[in-house]
Amino acid sequence: MKVIFYTPPKEAADWLRDFAHAMPEAELREWQPGDDAPADFAVVWRPPREMFTPRAGLRAVFNLGAGVDAILALEREHPGTLPRDAQLIRIEDGGMAPQMAEYVGHAVLRYLRRFDEYDILQAERRWKVLEPHPRETFTVGILGMGVLGSHVARALAPFGMPVRGYSRSPRDIEGVKTYAGEAQFDAFLSGVKVLVNLLPHTPDTHDVLDARVFSKLAHGAYLINVARGAHLVEQDLLDALASGQIAAATLDVFREEPLSANHPFWRQPRITITPHSSALTLRAESVAQVAAKIAALARGESVTGVVDLARGY
Ligand code: NAP
Ligand code: GLV
Repeated sequence: MKVIFYTPPKEAADWLRDFAHAMPEAELREWQPGDDAPADFAVVWRPPREMFTPRAGLRAVFNLGAGVDAILALEREHPGTLPRDAQLIRIEDGGMAPQMAEYVGHAVLRYLRRFDEYDILQAERRWKVLEPHPRETFTVGILGMGVLGSHVARALAPFGMPVRGYSRSPRDIEGVKTYAGEAQFDAFLSGVKVLVNLLPHTPDTHDVLDARVFSKLAHGAYLINVARGAHLVEQDLLDALASGQIAAATLDVFREEPLSANHPFWRQPRITITPHSSALTLRAESVAQVAAKIAALARGESVTGVVDLARGY
């Protein structure tokens, strides 16, 4: 079995070593420009388009991350990039769900207990007790109830604030009030105090975090965007912060990454920035998951995590 591999060069050697260890029977090679020799499986993160065209025999492309938007954007811009008969398979959790729960949990509790405001008071050397927000009305709304969103919702529920979840199809999660489909979108948003975005980036969800959505939330709401920068209309967030409709935001993802040094977000004290680090693809978990799925496909079995190309996730 032939497996071709691509990640940005800095990380490639460690991944290749671990894959070689997990799949000793596979002929594993790192893709180099000009390599169009046959392969059964490709394992990639942010691959160049040239890696796919033309390549005989490819049965599946494994994406070393949860979001497949970068690969699907290649396909949208250059139709036919992805081999027609190959499945696109993404990482499911792979160690990201607990990291996401820590990151979002930390941000939610930071806002609930007003640590963001204490940071400012400390910088001014001011001793002042702030009333905590009432937990009962500190409603957390999570956009996207997939692998990551549902894990985050379950992690937050025991803290006692109301937790809501929104997805395309109905979900049933203990302790979480769930909403599904566009018809229930406004009811989901109404009165939400912390909006957490864990949607995949698709044509349907592009620019979803905009002025209209912000206007439906509770006044002085908080935004946590850990999905993709292209979900957020940046000027609408700056305007909502200026008006007070949004009190503060924690952003892990941006339209342009790395965020350029002159981007206005750096100068906005109510925005907390992290460098797309909320949930990293963990090598050991991901290698084990991909190797097990390759073995299953080689035995003729089906696997989970197959991307629906029409839906875009
Ligand atoms: P997932 O399991 O595919 O879940 C996606 C969820 O979004 C599902 O609940 C789905 O609804 C819902 N959804 C999709 N399109 C929708 C629409 N138009 N309207 C309403 N709901 C919609 O994905 P995941 O593994 O949880 O990952 C989610 C995203 O997180 C990834 O795509 C990636 O962009 C991002 N991410 C970011 C980081 C980071 O470091 N910042 C790390 C990992 C992932 P159904 O349940 O009905 O299908
Ligand atoms: C990271 O952003 C991922 O999609 O896994």
